[in-house]
Amino acid sequence: MSQITKLIAAAAGAALLLGATACADSTPGAVGEVDVASGLIGIAMPTKSLERWNKDGARLEGLLQDAGYDTNLQFADNNAGQQITQLQDMLQQDLDVLVIAPVDGSSLTGVLAEAKDKGVIVIAYDRLINDTGDVDYYATFDNYEVGKLQGRFIVEKLDLRAGAGPFNLEPFAGAPDDNNAKLFFAGAWDVLAEYVSNGQLVVPSGKAPASNADWAGIGIPGWSADDAQAEMADRLNAAYGTAKVDVVLSPNDSLALGITKALLVAGYVEGVGWPLITGQDADQINVENMIADRQAMTVWKDTRMLADQAAGMVDQAVKGSKVTVNDEITYHNGAKVVPTYQLPPVVVTKDSIKGTLLDSGFYKPEDVGL
Ligand code: BGC
Repeated sequence: MSQITKLIAAAAGAALLLGATACADSTPGAVGEVDVASGLIGIAMPTKSLERWNKDGARLEGLLQDAGYDTNLQFADNNAGQQITQLQDMLQQDLDVLVIAPVDGSSLTGVLAEAKDKGVIVIAYDRLINDTGDVDYYATFDNYEVGKLQGRFIVEKLDLRAGAGPFNLEPFAGAPDDNNAKLFFAGAWDVLAEYVSNGQLVVPSGKAPASNADWAGIGIPGWSADDAQAEMADRLNAAYGTAKVDVVLSPNDSLALGITKALLVAGYVEGVGWPLITGQDADQINVENMIADRQAMTVWKDTRMLADQAAGMVDQAVKGSKVTVNDEITYHNGAKVVPTYQLPPVVVTKDSIKGTLLDSGFYKPEDVGL
């Protein structure tokens, strides 16, 4: 690309970023008026093993590069130590901003103190970073609402408000070191606990946390599909005999996938007493499972919106503009309330795949076998 073409492309990219956060504080101007950005942005994602983080990383990197920034994108293999090393390495460079989706939200206090010393602005991405004053902003979806949507879906589909039941429920939770996992569980359990207490929902495995605070006891480390499969198989073997599971609270799609595999191995058949299973992320294979009646719903968090929002926040922070947030109450990380931009999650079922995932271009029909 010639220097002039590069500048025009970067100016157009910068205008797009301003559009992503267009509201009170930023008025997108004509391309000619936009400052072409420069600076180095570090992006730390937790793992490549889950579809969504690859998409998140690629989109964020692409948006920032189009706007004129240099980027350093790293994935940490779900290993908290590896992520800290990656962050330390990045801090050897002349970084302006670090965008971090942490593996372990409570283990970054030391490395973020280094970032603060170097004047690097830190934005937590999707997952909150806890126990440090050195995180400046947070871009996320409403994680508590994700759990509520899953809980409400179960209440509605099983007609619990009308007194239906008893139904056999198996609840799962996500990685114990992921702050989001706590919020997903709390949202769901705040809806479901009353039906467990009154006996409309029965948990034969006994793995019903006594309260929201005990959620980590049923947490699946690293959000591993294989571990979820093994756990579901154990519960079926230990507690079911000839009884059947009616409903599984799965906080995301990777767990739902493992749970589905365990059910297939145990002889469950789609459409014939197959349990209601929840999920989150709208991963490709889970959307296919919804079409095949193996998963009842997923909570879709359009990662394009989150990456767009985060890229806009980076741009504002680098340029010293006011960073757009819409929540300055909810996300206390143990050291401070982190100013946050929060996006709304959306329920997707088999019937709404077209109107949501396909019509928005998130997937093409052929991506999900349609
Ligand atoms: C994210 C989910 C994801 C999970 C596993 C959570 O922090 O919010 O979208 O499914 O991590 O990677």
